[in-house]
Amino acid sequence: MTHFPKVTKAVIPAAGLGTRFLPATKAVAKEILPIIDVPAIQFIVEEALTAGIKDILIITGKGKQEIEDHFDANFSLEKNLKSKGKDKLLELATKTSDLNIHYTRQQYPKGLGDAVLHAQTFVGEDPFLLLLGDDITRGENLSQSLINLYAEYGKTTIAGVRVNEDKAKRYGMLDIETTNQDHIFNIKGLIEKPQGEAPSNLAAAGRYILKPEIFPILESLKPGSTGEIELTDALIDYNQNHEILAYEYPGEWYEVGEAYGMLIASIIFALDHPEVKDEFIPYIKKLAESL
Ligand code: G1P
Repeated sequence: MTHFPKVTKAVIPAAGLGTRFLPATKAVAKEILPIIDVPAIQFIVEEALTAGIKDILIITGKGKQEIEDHFDANFSLEKNLKSKGKDKLLELATKTSDLNIHYTRQQYPKGLGDAVLHAQTFVGEDPFLLLLGDDITRGENLSQSLINLYAEYGKTTIAGVRVNEDKAKRYGMLDIETTNQDHIFNIKGLIEKPQGEAPSNLAAAGRYILKPEIFPILESLKPGSTGEIELTDALIDYNQNHEILAYEYPGEWYEVGEAYGMLIASIIFALDHPEVKDEFIPYIKKLAESL
């Protein structure tokens, strides 16, 4: 059996301006906005770490210093909590203090493809996991599933979720053919935010295993139909000469880059959040009855 190199590196683009979440994102990085009490980007980092990732690169930009501060120690806070014997809070505050996270900056908002290009030296010759910060998963660890698939097939893989037809124009949509395995498809083509009919209802869900061969393609790309350098366009090009797999995620997927998705995620996560669920569940039931 062929052994493919283990995926140990992850890249998280977090340079987006967050315009879909204005005015909240005028002075706060959208990645720091919490689902109840945990910043969205912490969910992403924890998913990667739980999947066995050793090194993480976060691609930030102007006004995103809060992300670095969040994944750093806060000495005075720790001292204060320690002196007051608040051990539980101290544990929460230090959970993200000592991680192996690297940072680089995207200078201009030229799109996801351009952001990924900033990972080239970090990635070197290795395959890597790409996690988009707007997409939060719940249930099966999606990154782990993609890493396992790469260990078996050694191919570029895109995670997908089913979306309603009217939502297709918001996502990268996948043209797929079935394989002899449930949840796994061959990708025949893909299109970013189709204006017309989508090739299927499987949308790219913000998790990818990519190989370094994607970088020269990204380097040569011009802005696409959206005016930005799109990762999807690079994958279309890559797919001319390489097979790409799609993995249909059987878990739950929430898009938290805009207010509605964040609201839904917050409600769902509140239903089993140890600090709020006992009060929240009866409240939401009563509210639903009154509507
Ligand atoms: C990006 C990708 C798109 C993918 C989506 C998932 O779009 O370009 O292919 O379907 O994330 O959330 P964006 O959300 O940056 O517009």
